[in-house]
Amino acid sequence: MAAPLWPVSLLLIVLAASAGSAATVFPREALPTKSGYLPIPVANASLYFAFYEAVDPVTPPASTPLLVWLEGGPGSSSFLSNLFQIGPYILSSSASFAQLAPNPYKWNRRFGLLFLESPLGTGYSPAPSPSAIPTSQPVVAEHVLAALQSFLEAGGASFRARPLFLTGESYAGKTIPTAGALILATNPALPEQQRINLRGVAVGNGLVHPVAQVTTHADVLYFAGLIDAKQRREAAAMQAEAAALAAAERWGESVDAWFRVLSWLRNATGLPSLFDVAVDTSRESQLLAGAAAELLNDAEVRAALGVRGDAPPWELTSPAVVAALNDDVMKSAKPQMEALLRGASTRVLLYEGIRDAQVGVVSVDAWLRDLDDWDGLAAFQDAPRAVWRQGKGRLAGYVQKHGALVHAAVYAAGHLVPAAQGRAAQEMIENWVFDKGLFSSGGAAE
Ligand SMILES: *[C@@H]1O[C@H](CO)[C@@H](O)[C@H](O)[C@H]1NC(C)=O
Ligand SMILES: *[C@@H]1O[C@H](CO)[C@@H](O)[C@H](O)[C@H]1NC(C)=O
Repeated sequence: MAAPLWPVSLLLIVLAASAGSAATVFPREALPTKSGYLPIPVANASLYFAFYEAVDPVTPPASTPLLVWLEGGPGSSSFLSNLFQIGPYILSSSASFAQLAPNPYKWNRRFGLLFLESPLGTGYSPAPSPSAIPTSQPVVAEHVLAALQSFLEAGGASFRARPLFLTGESYAGKTIPTAGALILATNPALPEQQRINLRGVAVGNGLVHPVAQVTTHADVLYFAGLIDAKQRREAAAMQAEAAALAAAERWGESVDAWFRVLSWLRNATGLPSLFDVAVDTSRESQLLAGAAAELLNDAEVRAALGVRGDAPPWELTSPAVVAALNDDVMKSAKPQMEALLRGASTRVLLYEGIRDAQVGVVSVDAWLRDLDDWDGLAAFQDAPRAVWRQGKGRLAGYVQKHGALVHAAVYAAGHLVPAAQGRAAQEMIENWVFDKGLFSSGGAAE
């Protein structure tokens, strides 16, 4: 992730000094509007949530949109995005040490923002037993939906009427459409007062249809000048094997083959990850993860955030969840995305930072070509790609759209778009949710 580099020594001093005085690092005004646990009766368990109400809405309370954010991984905590990307306070180094500072590009400016710790076993959401951790997206989605119902139930009728959007990034590219399609499928059978007012889904640098997406790494890195022609051929053969195994539904072998080619390419390029080909981020990421773990495992902070005593120590990514979902990795969520594109009242935003060679623009373009159950594909592919500029003409990216689908490529960003381009990301999400300007559906590109 694009973040300032902190000298290790300084970081350690501050973390040591902050122990036992959480209030100084975690200011009161950085606390969620509501947080705690949302029951999922079907699993006799609950998911942790942190909800931040809109601080500067331009809509009446009853129609102020609600955004649900799901993190990727699988098994990564939504505090990754809460503290480093879109939450109201960002863990930063603005004063030469780690501290929480107000985020001018927070996503809860115009919208209520709900971070869910999903699946069970992730972040502050304890799994009642190892076998309670979901092993497939349909189960993850069922839990998300149950938690959402618990949240809306507690909020009352006016809460339920608010337009709702499922958002998230990376591996959540599989969960978001699965949960969205489940909402569309279950709503009609529910009494009016129990329906979910889903209006759309937004996925950043998302894994949705891996069989197509894993075939793009060799070309992306070759044309970026990061591998040579011989390495391109070798990588192409390796990724083709991963895709063939996925097509044959040999899920375990397929994910192994994919991770092998990613490892091989990291070795070949010397990059610590393919998430941002322009930045060597390994050291900063480790420091940030360390600072987050220190903060989120502080007893006072946990109490202030409403974390239960039986919740496990906070980890950025839960190894148990990664293991449980191993055979899920290569399975597709394309049919569910198609259901959302066909939905009468749902829209889809896909956005990627252009420097991501793992799940970036070319990767998403590859799976979009496979859309075969949405009649807008040809018109979408034929639509002009508009240049997106922000105030004073700064280049922010490119936007192509047709019907329910908006696809944005974000300039000067890698895998974690809001971390690199907070201002552009905020403009994008606000305009898309309000169906305005360059990000509106239907309207001509400006
Ligand atoms: C549900 O969990 C509670 C608390 O852990 C336990 O007492 C109860 O027996 C569980 N019920 C079922 C049906 O598993
Ligand atoms: C990449 O390098 C590491 C460290 O040398 C090695 O363990 C790993 O097997 C390599 N990956 C591949 C796919 O060759």
